[in-house]
Amino acid sequence: MTKIAVVTGAAGGMGRAIVARLLADGFHVVGFDIDADGLSGMEADGFEGMVVDLTSAEAIADAFEQIKATHGGVDALVNNAGTCFMSEFPDIPEAEFEKQMSLNFSGAFHCCQAAIKLMQGRDGVRKIVNISSNGAYNFDAFDPPHYRASKAALDTLTKDLARRYATDKIAVNSIAPAMTETPLFGVVSEEVLAKAIAQMPHGRAMQPSEIAAWIGFLISPAGDVSSGNVIILNQGRDVR
Ligand SMILES: NC(=O)c1ccc[n+]([C@@H]2O[C@H](COP(=O)([O-])OP(=O)(O)OC[C@H]3O[C@@H](n4cnc5c(N)ncnc54)[C@H](O)[C@@H]3O)[C@@H](O)[C@H]2O)c1
Repeated sequence: MTKIAVVTGAAGGMGRAIVARLLADGFHVVGFDIDADGLSGMEADGFEGMVVDLTSAEAIADAFEQIKATHGGVDALVNNAGTCFMSEFPDIPEAEFEKQMSLNFSGAFHCCQAAIKLMQGRDGVRKIVNISSNGAYNFDAFDPPHYRASKAALDTLTKDLARRYATDKIAVNSIAPAMTETPLFGVVSEEVLAKAIAQMPHGRAMQPSEIAAWIGFLISPAGDVSSGNVIILNQGRDVR
């Protein structure tokens, strides 16, 4: 039976690489994104785009209801959608703070609530991978505090759900990348970007396909024995 994976932020830089990885691994992939044009350009066998605003709990619930009706369940969820708003503390507008937490954390939380219900009764070890950020742990880089906090919250959710659902065979992990070349690079100036890339030990940014390979590994049978981990991918930048 074909396994069903849901990938959020599917039309973004990392999202497209994750979708490609999971399609190559034989999954039917349902991609959520707010970018309807981006999704419509992603036609591929086994891919289905759904326009979903992940800042709306109701929209998320509706999307999983549709998946339940069409596919009957979910085997894997990748909470990848996210962004990084760059206002500096303490002058962060309330609306920006709310949107940062809503997209990066609350959206993933609501997707987990809905997906876990649809994972019940499915074969094998079901998987959730939350895309965190090295920014939650490296305080030398440029990331603002509401971005860091949204990702730290996500990683605590990872650990809670990993513990809560271990005996139900639902494995939950976070992947926390550092500088990865996607459209998100546009949130910082060229100067800040060049400095951050220069700090990467290999002298280059990571590629989305390199991160997607780790997500594919966690979702593959080899990943069955890992749960509750935050896996930091940064070429060894922060090893002390
Ligand atoms: N690129 C990096 O260096 C890097 C580093 C660490 C972590 N990350 C994380 O990786 C994830 C993916 O980021 P990316 O680099 O691919 O960025 P991206 O901007 O290319 O992709 C983000 C995607 O999320 C979608 N999105 C935004 N708001 C949405 C909403 N309300 N509802 C539904 N979809 C929405 C966008 O349309 C876009 O397709 C994010 O969680 C980000 O925090 C990225």
